Amino acid sequence: MPAGMMTSREAQKAGGEIFAANCTICHGVRGDGRGQRHEGMNPPPANLTLPPWSEERSATRMYKVIHDGMPGTAMPSWSTLSDRQIWQVVAYVHTLGNP
Ligand code: HEC
Repeated sequence: MPAGMMTSREAQKAGGEIFAANCTICHGVRGDGRGQRHEGMNPPPANLTLPPWSEERSATRMYKVIHDGMPGTAMPSWSTLSDRQIWQVVAYVHTLGNP
């Protein structure tokens, strides 16, 4: 992650917009895995408010999951998002478990 981005209000805000547009349908508005479409998904969307996702040390892993997706699950790969946008989402998701 680019230096300072995790705690940058600006990055978190931009990431919040990306999250609202692309992720809440499955992961929920609060990131707790209870989005409109979560029912019946196997495996279900991850609860992003809990460790390891709420922990800063999982940032690189989260980047990779968002970039590559998770084959065999409903989690798509987000090749449409730029590197910078993915880091912004990671910074935002970090705030969900650490309000
Ligand atoms: C179509 C539904 C869907 C959308 C949209 C979606 N996800 Fe997911 N996501 C999932 C599912 C299902 C899993 C659970 C995969 C598993 O547990 O193996 C998951 C897992 C994850 C994980 C945890 C991966 C792991 O190793 O357990 C992260 C982090 C994540 N999603 C972030 C995001 C972000 C950020 C976005 C928006 C850019 C997003 N997801 C959009 C369905 C979705």
